[in-house]
Amino acid sequence: MNTVSRRQFLHITGTLAGATLLTSISFSGRASAAAPALVPRKLPFPPNDEFGSYEPTITPDGNTIYFARFAGSGDTRVLGTTTDIFVTRRVRHKPGAFGLDRGEALLAALEGGAACLTFASGMAAATAVFLALRPGDHVVAPQVMYWGLRNWLKSAAAEWGLVVDFVDASATDALASAVRPGRTKLIWIESPANPTWPITDIAAAAEIARGAGARLAVDSTVATPLLTRPIALGADIVMHSATKYLNGHSDVVAGALVAARHDELWERIAAIRTGNGAILGSFEAWLLLRGMRTLHLRVERCCRTAQSIAEHFVGHRRVAAVLYPGLPEHPGHAVAARQMLGGFGGMLSIRVAGGERAAIATAAQVTVWKRATSLGGVESLIEHRASIEGPGSAAPGDLLRLSVGIEDVADLIGDLEQALAATG
Ligand SMILES: Cc1ncc(COP(=O)(O)O)c(C=O)c1O
Repeated sequence: MNTVSRRQFLHITGTLAGATLLTSISFSGRASAAAPALVPRKLPFPPNDEFGSYEPTITPDGNTIYFARFAGSGDTRVLGTTTDIFVTRRVRHKPGAFGLDRGEALLAALEGGAACLTFASGMAAATAVFLALRPGDHVVAPQVMYWGLRNWLKSAAAEWGLVVDFVDASATDALASAVRPGRTKLIWIESPANPTWPITDIAAAAEIARGAGARLAVDSTVATPLLTRPIALGADIVMHSATKYLNGHSDVVAGALVAARHDELWERIAAIRTGNGAILGSFEAWLLLRGMRTLHLRVERCCRTAQSIAEHFVGHRRVAAVLYPGLPEHPGHAVAARQMLGGFGGMLSIRVAGGERAAIATAAQVTVWKRATSLGGVESLIEHRASIEGPGSAAPGDLLRLSVGIEDVADLIGDLEQALAATG
């Protein structure tokens, strides 16, 4: 039996509306014998018709959970905050049957789309688009793109029967000559694209897709909905690994698709999400919404800091090249300046003079940057991309990928300076 004093209890749960965001977990099915003891308290929010009843409890580690018992279903699940009840569609077979998904509504609004679906990961979201196509369909994809999806396209998508051509998507001509009118069903692009950050002209790609009777899908993970609006530029589907900037705290794996319109393809994608069990969990959906509340602040800061870091290391004697679309010498700068509004993103790469060994040694020397894969969180990350991707990686051996967080820009530059100096 877990006992807490009244003071502790009030501290944990918060007594004023809006005072505390609670750490919560969701439960499916009936509470087990190990479930925490129920601690009665006055609820900070009014009952809602969707639920039979609420029961707040405190777990042995001091967190609060709000259970909702769904009337008539015998089902117990939910999580909540003092300001907000946020319930997501945990029932796979009845998506949309209850609850509201504010995260999906928010993303659809940010992207200017007609609908949004969140997924259990970025990969789940991306692959749902390809799985909604038919065997034999032709797809055009970029040579430079997130390596996990590229590998999936080369293996599982090929087994499913898709015919995928990889082209230089930063060259509009290459995209135009790759499409096969009548047969190409999808052009997939990523902009800026991992890990060298080429830019694709989204409006031009949309026109090519339209001319060929194909759809255009854009992995806009790095641009975020704040910097680029692919739907306004003519895209049909926008994809995000919400694991990254949208969540922003490196504690959620999630994905999202936003559609320009409801149509048959979108219906198939929704059915795949349901059938494959690729729906986002309640807790992750709640964390994602929490993260998106600060998206505008984080993205603005990341862009400013990334721009400063890029400018600082251009021409540095231990840096062979800085790859960042915000630099005028970047080949995609003119297009990026047109289609990215308010900044060029928080991702850049440097190619270390001295090659692969020097690059790896530099990554080993940093203390402010964290050596980790992933991107888009509040903490700045550095990685030797070719090592992460392994055999077959298209990343140059001397390349370090930098995901700029929200730390002090001078600390980040100083740390890279000392790491480069130590290895030179
Ligand atoms: C640009 C991009 N798209 C898609 C993904 C896949 O997302 P997730 O890791 O959420 O499955 C990633 C992951 O690193 C990514 O960087």
